Amino acid sequence: MQLIDGKATAAQIKSEIKSEVERMTADGMRPPHLVAILVGHDGGSETYVKNKVLACEACGFRSTLLRFEDDITEDELLAQVAALNADAEVDGFIVQLPLPRHINEQRVIEAIDYRKDVDGFHPINVGRMAIGLPCYISATPRGILELLRRYEIPTSGRRCVILGRSNIVGKPMAQLMMQKQYGDSTVVVCHSHSATLADECRQADILIAAIGQPGFVKADMVKPGAVVIDVGTTRVPDASRKSGYRLSGDVDFEQVAPLCSYITPVPGGVGPMTICMLMQNTLAAAKKTYYSD
Ligand code: GUN
Repeated sequence: MQLIDGKATAAQIKSEIKSEVERMTADGMRPPHLVAILVGHDGGSETYVKNKVLACEACGFRSTLLRFEDDITEDELLAQVAALNADAEVDGFIVQLPLPRHINEQRVIEAIDYRKDVDGFHPINVGRMAIGLPCYISATPRGILELLRRYEIPTSGRRCVILGRSNIVGKPMAQLMMQKQYGDSTVVVCHSHSATLADECRQADILIAAIGQPGFVKADMVKPGAVVIDVGTTRVPDASRKSGYRLSGDVDFEQVAPLCSYITPVPGGVGPMTICMLMQNTLAAAKKTYYSD
């Protein structure tokens, strides 16, 4: 069994990005600029956004954090989005999700100029990704593809089972693993109503778990020699930690790891790659790699 070290891979990629930024600025360009909008005080979102700002620093980017209380109205938030769309000094921006219930998340996502949508959540980016056109690809699936590529794990023609059908992970992951230019795999998507879920898992050469249920994947659901990618990051109470919680993946690591050819740990697997891919999307935005105005 080989552990897939997302933390080390992400550090390597960030240093590659930093070198690229140094080349850009030496050529007279300004560094990439990412803006994050954070509404309210959700603990998970605070941590994600803090880590995104730190990653910007590590890559030599400029970053701006715009914070709002959770009583901001939808119109006020849409006005902020419109201002960022129009600001030539901003290459890309994200609105951290989830948003308070009184705000229509989809309306906010669709208000973002798709050319600055470095999360890859706008329907134009989602649609272009689905038909294999250049676009921003959402960071978690892109990070998983990058891990598979850097660890030289073959995917072409192999059976990939994805647990979960969210817009952020499950659906784009399935699209990408299916496409010839990315995974080129045979793809099965399972979810909470899949009658044959455990059977499907047992047939997987590559199993990607993204359902948000701690320890859901047990040893009897995994084929010996499978590659297991764990996207889960649920906070579970842990009195022995200073924070009072620990992060738990969707895979029962103790049971499953000995069976695998490769497995990602939680933390230190997919998580660090997600933020790193946001940095790659922001770099692409600054360089106008996908869209040239
Ligand atoms: N909430 C959880 N993951 C994400 C993400 O990748 N981007 C944004 N904007 N919000 C999130």
